[in-house]
Amino acid sequence: MRGSVIVNRRAAFERAAGYYALRGTTRANRRPVWGTRNLPETIDPARSTIHDPRSAAICRAILIHIEDGVSSQQKTFYIETFGCQMNFHDSEKVVGTLISEGYQQVQREEDADLIFYNTCSIRDKAEQKVFHRLNDFKKLHKEGKRFGVLGCVAQQEGEKIFERAPYVSLVAGSASYRNLPEMLVQIEAGAGRVTGLDDRETDQTFETEFTARSNPHRGYITIIEGCDKFCAYCVVPYTRGKERSRTSQSVLDEAKRMADVGYTDIQLLGQNVNSYRDPAGKMRFSELLSAIGELLGIRRVRFTTSHPRDFTKDIVDAIDAVPALCDHVHLPVQSGSSRLLSSMFREYTREQYLERIAWIKSARNKEISITTDVIVGFPGETEAEFGETLSLLDEVGYDGVFSFKYSPRPNTPSLQYIDSIPDAEKSRRLQVLQERQREIQRASYARHLGQVLEVMVEGKNAARGQVIGRTSQNKTLNFVTNGGREPDAGQYVDVEVTQIFPNSLLGKMVG
Ligand code: 5AD
Ligand code: SF4
Repeated sequence: MRGSVIVNRRAAFERAAGYYALRGTTRANRRPVWGTRNLPETIDPARSTIHDPRSAAICRAILIHIEDGVSSQQKTFYIETFGCQMNFHDSEKVVGTLISEGYQQVQREEDADLIFYNTCSIRDKAEQKVFHRLNDFKKLHKEGKRFGVLGCVAQQEGEKIFERAPYVSLVAGSASYRNLPEMLVQIEAGAGRVTGLDDRETDQTFETEFTARSNPHRGYITIIEGCDKFCAYCVVPYTRGKERSRTSQSVLDEAKRMADVGYTDIQLLGQNVNSYRDPAGKMRFSELLSAIGELLGIRRVRFTTSHPRDFTKDIVDAIDAVPALCDHVHLPVQSGSSRLLSSMFREYTREQYLERIAWIKSARNKEISITTDVIVGFPGETEAEFGETLSLLDEVGYDGVFSFKYSPRPNTPSLQYIDSIPDAEKSRRLQVLQERQREIQRASYARHLGQVLEVMVEGKNAARGQVIGRTSQNKTLNFVTNGGREPDAGQYVDVEVTQIFPNSLLGKMVG
């Protein structure tokens, strides 16, 4: 059965415009979120708390700058982060801002005066999960603690959060974080219901020199915030606001400062980095990418997320020409059927998507790894259309696919379609797709056997006696040192691949 309601894209824009125009009203504050599609962030759960809904299991060590001692006078905060890399990096900036305002970060909510919860609502029943967690915090309220809900669920649910969780003092969406210092002053002054929800039309980005980066080797830089694409299923344009880019100069300055203090790996972030527009008109996205890749000390530059409609050939040319630009592109396709792509408002056809894939594959100096996102069970998706997605996987030969069952999100245009595929059928399609992709990877990862690849060391897996490494193509390559000196986190070493697994590689250090 096909999607039976015709939903017009202009209506989506107008709805959003209406939302923005209704700033400050309860209705305006009832919008959802986004989570950048991204490769799962990997964090040491013992030191920080970040949950990637797609892959909570994959955890990479991060080093949060938490002082050992907390003076009894100092105000303390605890922050918990859910969702995408964008949210994770937002939290790094929030932490930096709080520290610059005299707060100290603690690792346990029991030790904090102020508890922040940075939320994600990209899929599933994010709102319910947030209210459940807030319920856990309720006990702590009796001890005089204050609570702030940040991020996409905050923006989406708005002041409803105060109604359902009256002990919350602050509800703020990401577009308002630059006003955090003032909001903190209000909370300190005893204000009960402080909101930062009205800024989705802002032209300003959240730039701060106080970012508390949690990994000393690999760091994120936001180059563009918000999204103007309004894909039919997606909450992001409603929660993160309209698209706004930082100047190339400010991005380059930040990258230089990072290189100066020893960062070698930089990841540029945005909901759609390909629609980056330098407000000063100096650089295109590909030029900014190259300029960062050419900075002294920078060995790896990645970017995420791309949108096929805005992905241009000069990006591939830059990756091919500049050694530090990683040989990996994440290009979310969502569906292999042009009819469904149109109904998702993706603004490209299967053929146009494949044209971009051909550009990527035609790079002369690098074999560029390609990964994607897919949604199964979008309203009206027929078995044949699902089959088109499967055949696309075969045709492209992705190195990784993040696949999701369609979930209707508040306020999005696709809510008006009939969610026609039963959940069991969505699950079946997801399983079929994941099995097909496992087979593709099993065959294609074999190309790495015997190759010597450079990895950046990320940590150790003591139980297995292995060192954890990441390749330029963003693959996990764990390795043994065969009695050699174990390299430190952040070092780059060469590793020969000796074994392949569906989602990772194993090898031995060379030299
Ligand atoms: N339902 C299912 N998946 C979704 N995504 C975004 N919104 C939805 C939704 N409503 C997926 C897309 C996107 C990734 C970050 O999450 O595949 O690229
Ligand atoms: Fe959502 Fe589409 Fe924007 Fe990506 S491009 S954030 S999927 S609206």
